[in-house]
Amino acid sequence: MAKLPRVFVTRRLPKEILSQLDDHAHVDLWDSDLPPDPDNLLDHVREAEGLLCLLTDRVDKALIQQAKSLRVISNMAVGTDNIDLSFATAQGIPVGNTPGVLTETTADFAFALLMAAARRVVDGDKYVRDGNWKTWGPSVLLGQDVFGKTLGIIGYGAIGRAVARRAQGFSMKVMYNSRSQKDMDEKIGATYAELEDLLEQSDFVSLHVPLTDETRHIISTKELELMKESAILINTARGPVVDQGALVKALGNKNIAMAAVDVTTVEPIDAGNPLLSLPNVIVTPHIASASTRTRRQMTQMAVDNLLAGLHGDVLPHFANPEVST
Ligand code: DGY
Repeated sequence: MAKLPRVFVTRRLPKEILSQLDDHAHVDLWDSDLPPDPDNLLDHVREAEGLLCLLTDRVDKALIQQAKSLRVISNMAVGTDNIDLSFATAQGIPVGNTPGVLTETTADFAFALLMAAARRVVDGDKYVRDGNWKTWGPSVLLGQDVFGKTLGIIGYGAIGRAVARRAQGFSMKVMYNSRSQKDMDEKIGATYAELEDLLEQSDFVSLHVPLTDETRHIISTKELELMKESAILINTARGPVVDQGALVKALGNKNIAMAAVDVTTVEPIDAGNPLLSLPNVIVTPHIASASTRTRRQMTQMAVDNLLAGLHGDVLPHFANPEVST
């Protein structure tokens, strides 16, 4: 019987899905809820023909160069900024990702953050737990209306559009900024705006761009200064899309009213980070796609991509389709 190819799976994942690999590969599982450190990752990838990794694993040029047998990289995420995609492509290594299945779940969460920040849900919970709820008060925990306000969406791909659809139900005016689309989105009723106009006019700004060289720090001091003092910034994209130092200053100086972020520059954020000392920010631990159904589907897609790569087939979901042509 032919020797099965070795694959490294960098995290504990549902057994009943991972077991689909058993007849096709020798699975080296990092059986932990924490990621391998870079040395461990390299040790295990060195001999592997397939890699099923997460967004917490840095698959850079140096790692790929040392993984001489690697034939497929399957990332259990739609974003691939943890992988040196152009180097993998140059080496002819297909990279799989998990688009589509997390679109609605992530949009739900972006809207949940928007609502939570505007209506002070987190403050309210803390207020009750701290024993401060003495009576119904006319000025207790006043927030901002969402209904009828202006939402600016930066990045108008599938997730950005899914957020725009949710905003329709709140009769919001929706503006978007995108590099690839500039026309009026008649179906959703969203209008294209230049970034500066969007920032100046929006009550809520929600970020939905992938992290690339062009989008790194797309929101920094200048952009935060353009925003309304009452504005709320939502980030469910990637931490480095926002200049976090500039955000801390803008929130501290009340240049903007609030931020609600699911992603930070470094993840996990250090407990002593100045962002966490601010009262006007909500920080969640990169959970926008974290529904039971979606995470199972992401795992299944990652396994399907890995198997296709091992068999030399076209990956069902390619981050670098040019490798197959
Ligand atoms: C992704 O898939 O890129 C998401 O950030 C995971 O939540």
